[in-house]
Amino acid sequence: MFLNSGCGAVVLFSFVSFLLFLSHRVDSEPTQDKQALLAFISKTPHENRIQWNASDSACSWVGVECDANQSFVYSLRLPGVGLVGQIPPNTLGQLSQLRVLSLRANRLTGQIPSDFSNLKLLRSLYLQNNNLSGEFPSSLFELTRLTRLDLSTNNFTGPIPFSVNNLTHLTGLFLENNGFSGNLPSINPGGLVDFNVSNNHLNGSIPRTLSKFPASAFTGNIDICGEPLPPCNPFFPSPSPSPPVEPPEKPLHKKSKKLPTAAIIAISIGSALLLLLLLLILILCLRRKRGQSPKAAKPPTTARAAGEAGTSSSKDDVTGGSAEGERNKLVFFDGGVYSFDLEDLLRASAEVLGKGSVGTSYKAVLEEGTTVVVKRLKDVVVTKKEFEQQMEVLGKIKHENVVPLRAFYYSKDEKLLVYDYMPAGSLSALLHGSRGSGRTPLDWDNRMKVALSTARGLAHLHLSGKVVHGNIKSSNILLRQDTHDACVSDFGLNPLFSGSTSPNHRIAGYRAPEVLEARRVTFKSDVYSFGVLLLELLTGKAPNQASLGEEGIDLPRWVQSVVREEWTAEVFDVELMRYNNIEEEMVQLLQIAMACVATVPDQRPDMREVVRMIEEMNRAETDDGLRQSSDDPSKGSGGPTTPEARTSPRGVTP
Ligand SMILES: *[C@@H]1O[C@H](CO)[C@@H](O)[C@H](O)[C@H]1NC(C)=O
Ligand SMILES: *[C@@H]1O[C@H](CO)[C@@H](O)[C@H](O)[C@H]1NC(C)=O
Ligand SMILES: *[C@@H]1O[C@H](CO)[C@@H](O)[C@H](O)[C@H]1NC(C)=O
Ligand SMILES: *[C@@H]1O[C@H](CO)[C@@H](O)[C@H](O)[C@H]1NC(C)=O
Ligand SMILES: *[C@@H]1O[C@H](CO)[C@@H](O)[C@H](O)[C@H]1NC(C)=O
Ligand SMILES: *[C@@H]1O[C@H](CO)[C@@H](O)[C@H](O)[C@H]1NC(C)=O
Ligand SMILES: *[C@@H]1O[C@H](CO)[C@@H](O)[C@H](O)[C@H]1NC(C)=O
Repeated sequence: MFLNSGCGAVVLFSFVSFLLFLSHRVDSEPTQDKQALLAFISKTPHENRIQWNASDSACSWVGVECDANQSFVYSLRLPGVGLVGQIPPNTLGQLSQLRVLSLRANRLTGQIPSDFSNLKLLRSLYLQNNNLSGEFPSSLFELTRLTRLDLSTNNFTGPIPFSVNNLTHLTGLFLENNGFSGNLPSINPGGLVDFNVSNNHLNGSIPRTLSKFPASAFTGNIDICGEPLPPCNPFFPSPSPSPPVEPPEKPLHKKSKKLPTAAIIAISIGSALLLLLLLLILILCLRRKRGQSPKAAKPPTTARAAGEAGTSSSKDDVTGGSAEGERNKLVFFDGGVYSFDLEDLLRASAEVLGKGSVGTSYKAVLEEGTTVVVKRLKDVVVTKKEFEQQMEVLGKIKHENVVPLRAFYYSKDEKLLVYDYMPAGSLSALLHGSRGSGRTPLDWDNRMKVALSTARGLAHLHLSGKVVHGNIKSSNILLRQDTHDACVSDFGLNPLFSGSTSPNHRIAGYRAPEVLEARRVTFKSDVYSFGVLLLELLTGKAPNQASLGEEGIDLPRWVQSVVREEWTAEVFDVELMRYNNIEEEMVQLLQIAMACVATVPDQRPDMREVVRMIEEMNRAETDDGLRQSSDDPSKGSGGPTTPEARTSPRGVTP
């Protein structure tokens, strides 16, 4: 009995332990994961290759792998098993220990469920070759352990977010063959080895962090540029001499479909330059043959300019090769705030701001976010040395009412100037841009501010810089966003152009009468142009538009004729009529303007006087404190010399 019972106990014990063992085994099956998988497969239509038997352990199912202890599902791989439709929420997102998920090459549609953000330990996610849509799934940014992410060949749209950088362990990112659009962010997980965004709708420049990947990783987008693809800015064909670069570029253009325009531009620029060169050589030869004597009688400016044009470009041709090392340099002026190089400028995404008389201006947004204006000069005739000398003069000019020139670039093919970007735009846009349609008219106080600050900027150019602006017009008066103070831009460029192509022959409407004959701009012709600008502020009429009623009559003469007939009130901009008590000031400013547009240059005031007149005019309407300070007797007798010395303390008040 004892023995028997003992035996029984042993048997019982073994049985219990067996049961315990069994139950332990069953417990170790990942029941939660199993439920999630069953929910997934029941809600997702699929081919019958997947025969997951609920009575078996999930760890034995097709496509499912568990960890060694069978305590969780480690990977789920269901490639090409005919899964159809949306990934149901609250299914796969529950596999909290999942490391690998592959659902590639199915017919999945719709968005990735947001609960994918629970898959915190996921290392690899393969969803390529489906029809998944929506924006880049933001739930994935929390999967910071991801090393491989493949969303290629789907129907994803919208931007590729900068938050991809959250995935710091990424070694492979595959986004090709989708509908991603916008700019490529600076994606920079250090360990990225494989990367592909080809065949999307991306535009803009390729960030430097990604330029190490082959061109085929980027091709097939709308408008993407920069290394390893051809450079972005059409205004800057290539840092190396253009002719040798073009041929290897051509096959690329053919493949990628959207580069032909760039190619055409490059080719036409190239051929235009070639033509110009041939022409210059021809002119040079002719000059040599004829000898110098008959030409000596020509007006001095044009003769000099033409002579320099000829010799300079032939010199450039000779020295072009040896100067190559210097060629790719942006020259910055002292005291600048920028630190980028030509390469950065090349990569910047550029937008045309305007085509002016001296060339085309671009707004260039650099990778690090800096925005500058790049002006690409055309028809520059001076030698590199002369160019540099003039730049040195212009680069020194610093004044709150002058747009600073920050850097320049000179090569045989390209002359670029880099200026600060003024986001508030030009006076021209403010005065004439879409009148009436919901735009805020420039009020009288702000027009006065523009008049005074422009005058101060010009006076500084004339007095301190000894520079003739030469191209004053409302589109070259830029406004500061906060204060509506004006800054003059595009100054002092006339010496870079020859007499016949000089921009002052194209600024119809602002040009002083004597400039047409003398072919050169002077301080006094600047004063005339400034007078026209004041008239523009007062009348709201653009001087270079034939909006003055009579054909061929310019703004000063129109104003003169109206004022002579005593219709003075008719002269002023209707947008100013709504303001009270400004008529007297408007008439005062009109008188200053008329003095500036005197036909005889000597009768015009100089800029310093103009500043003084506008300031004193302001005095009448500003508060008592100011009136007292301006009543300082030293003012009347010519007192301080530089306008800014006198004006800056008051600059804030008008
Ligand atoms: C599931 O497996 C059990 C035995 O393991 C079997 O009896 C049953 O028929 C299977 N069910 C299906 C649907 O295959
Ligand atoms: C298996 O589970 C035991 C305890 O439950 C644990 O100590 C062991 O580390 C686990 N092994 C693995 C490979 O997870
Ligand atoms: C995605 O959908 C389109 C159109 O419905 C179809 O032509 C294409 O084959 C689908 N792609 C995949 C991978 O299912
Ligand atoms: C980036 O990852 C952290 C966790 O490391 C997460 O808290 C954060 O929300 C993620 N950022 C985004 C944009 O998802
Ligand atoms: C792709 O996405 C667009 C818009 O998101 C949708 O209209 C289209 O039906 C989708 N195509 C497929 C095949 O899912
Ligand atoms: C790029 O495309 C987006 C729209 O997808 C557009 O808003 C943006 O202006 C484009 N940028 C450039 C530089 O073309
Ligand atoms: C990127 O994807 C495209 C399209 O699938 C392919 O042609 C190209 O070779 C890929 N490039 C790289 C670098 O993987």
